[in-house]
Amino acid sequence: MTQSRVFMTTENHLNVAIEIAREAGSLLLQYFRQPLEITYKRRSDLVTEADRKSEALIVDRLRAHFPGYAIVAEEGGGQKTGSDYCWYVDPLDGTTNFAHGFPIFAVTLGLAYRGEVVGGVVFDPTREELYTVERGAGSYLNGQRLRVSNNGDLAECLVATGFPPFATNHDLNVEFYFRFTQLTHGIRRAGSAALDLCSVAAGRFDGFWELKLNPWDKAAGTLLVTEAGGQVSGITGRPFNLLDDDVFASNGLIHHQMLRVFSEVLEQRGSNWPGR
Ligand code: IPD
Ligand code: CA
Ligand code: CA
Repeated sequence: MTQSRVFMTTENHLNVAIEIAREAGSLLLQYFRQPLEITYKRRSDLVTEADRKSEALIVDRLRAHFPGYAIVAEEGGGQKTGSDYCWYVDPLDGTTNFAHGFPIFAVTLGLAYRGEVVGGVVFDPTREELYTVERGAGSYLNGQRLRVSNNGDLAECLVATGFPPFATNHDLNVEFYFRFTQLTHGIRRAGSAALDLCSVAAGRFDGFWELKLNPWDKAAGTLLVTEAGGQVSGITGRPFNLLDDDVFASNGLIHHQMLRVFSEVLEQRGSNWPGR
């Protein structure tokens, strides 16, 4: 059985994931712009009661529908099993935005089968935008097929990145940010990696990279990009691996131009990029 068939046929994964993401999205909206209990995992790394409540809801529902499946969820509510299937869950991607009342955040669920993402969902509740994907069956936004942009000229591109909560001025990514600001129409740092990847899939951004992302941030989004005709790799051009920290997604046409810039900066700094 191919992996796309696994996602589409077994237990109706996509429909269940959609239902859960919508439910979690409504829950987030109930907390949005209300007084919030915020705690810190470490400096600048926020977690709110909305993250926790959303995760509890999602994990509960996933357990009920798929009892034996492994679940890796950001706030630690998942479960280890010996299953070939693993759900990667970010119950609120864009927590800092959420905590400040800035309306860019999402719920995302990706399903991997033997380590390979086979499908997923990203739901943006403030825009009611639902992104869905199944390996081999394309990417969709509210039911409309998605296609990456066809811009091959880096100078005319809009690209995006993000920084981990513990970024410093000496970060390699500050240098990438500086270089691409000069080479493109501009860079966006919108604060939700899952939505950044959706924007590449939808042709709103031409490229996106980030150096330290967890698998739950990028599971559904990276498949959305490739199923929309784009390309995903590491920043050195290595084949994409969900468990690597870095990710680079583009419309495919500018992939080599951007890889060249990453490699020039690495060379100038004398840095090796191990990727893990
Ligand atoms: C964060 C967002 C942000 C990215 C950070 C992530 P969270 O996720 O995706 O855009 O730059 O690296 O940690 O903490 O809001 O789920
Ligand atoms: Ca996240
Ligand atoms: Ca999160």
